[in-house]
Parts: sequence; structure tokens; C-alpha cells
Amino acid sequence: MKIVFATNNPHKINELREILGKRFELMNLHDIGCEEEIPEDQLTLEGNASQKAFYIYNKYGYSCFADDTGLEIDALNGEPGVFSARYAGEEKDARMNMDKVLRKLGKINNRKARFRTVISLVLNGQEKQFEGIVTGQITRMKQGDTGFGYDPVFMPDGFDRTFAEMNMSEKNRISHRGRAVEKLVEYLIQIENN
Ligand code: IMP
Repeated sequence: MKIVFATNNPHKINELREILGKRFELMNLHDIGCEEEIPEDQLTLEGNASQKAFYIYNKYGYSCFADDTGLEIDALNGEPGVFSARYAGEEKDARMNMDKVLRKLGKINNRKARFRTVISLVLNGQEKQFEGIVTGQITRMKQGDTGFGYDPVFMPDGFDRTFAEMNMSEKNRISHRGRAVEKLVEYLIQIENN
């Protein structure tokens, strides 16, 4: 089965290729000649994932899946949520985003947060969504230097290290994206076997 992952992030593509193996021919946006920026202007993760997947299906005719992720902090009423990438401005600067989170939380003791990923799969025009969540705490300072985004300030429950202090495979095993991808892959393999 040929399927498009609506991303040009090589890290995400490689991860999925490894999991899906030879059963699926996974293509990225570049492979199908999609060089334009895909609209992503909805107010929810579900809306954005859906918008991206349907954009590819409608314009290019391929079955497709797309993901959208947000960091949701309890004491900030779910912020930065769908605005995670550009929380501190259109530069999408990870350091500035983290500084804004730490500044807004200040000395607040309730530091509960979660990462949530939504994957939208559009197969032959029918949509199915998969969600992955990891809960944790926002630390008081940045810790660690691996990973990306908010990794240095997010400590998953049950660990005494932030995501930025874990190696990639350790993080992938418990991460929001890892969990959503697991559900997607289970579904795709089930379809392929029927
Ligand atoms: P995207 O939907 O995967 O592009 O994620 C949107 C934004 O959420 C990113 O720009 C990051 O700021 C943040 N983010 C997503 N996944 C992670 C992660 O695994 N660790 C840290 N930050 C993340």
C-alpha cells in the first residue's frame, strides 16, 4: 500500500519507515511534489491534523496521514496547546517558547502538563484519528540538551529526567507521538491483513 505522511521531517519519516517495514511504501511531501506550505490554521490539534491530511488527499489523491502535537499545561488553562510551535512568536524559537512557559508559570506549584499528539488518517476519503498522550511536570529550569522543542522543561511521570535527558529510543517508547503512532500502525497492519 502506498501512503503519504504529510511531513518533510526526516526524523519522523525514518521512524515510521522502520516501524512499518516493507508492508507500506511510505512517501513524504517532497516525494509527491508537494512543496507548498500546507494550511494549518485550525484552533484544535484534531482540526489541524484533519486539515493537513484532507489537503493532501483532495489535491494529490493519495491516502495520507498527518500529525499535530501540543503541550497542554494545566495551570495555564491548556496553553500553549495548538500554538506550541509559535507560542513566543512566528520565529518558532524553542528557547523563547520555553522561557515564556517558565516565566508564565513563575513560582506556581501546580506544574502538571501533558503532550498530546493527534494523527489523522485519510484512507480512500474516510478519516480515522488516533491520539497519544504522555503526562508529566514542567520543571523549574531547563535540564538536558537532546531532543527538540519543550523537551528540556518536560519531565514525564515516573521519571526523574526530562525528555532532553533521555536518548531518542527511550523517549519514543513513552512519548505522545510514539503512542499515537503505535495505534496508527496497529490499525494499518490490521487493514493490510484483511
Ligand atoms: P508538531 O505538530 O509536531 O510540529 O509540534 C508542534 C510543536 O510542539 C513543536 O514545534 C514543538 O514546539 C512542540 N513539540 C512537539 N513534539 C514535541 C516533543 O516531542 N518534545 C518537545 N516539544 C514538542
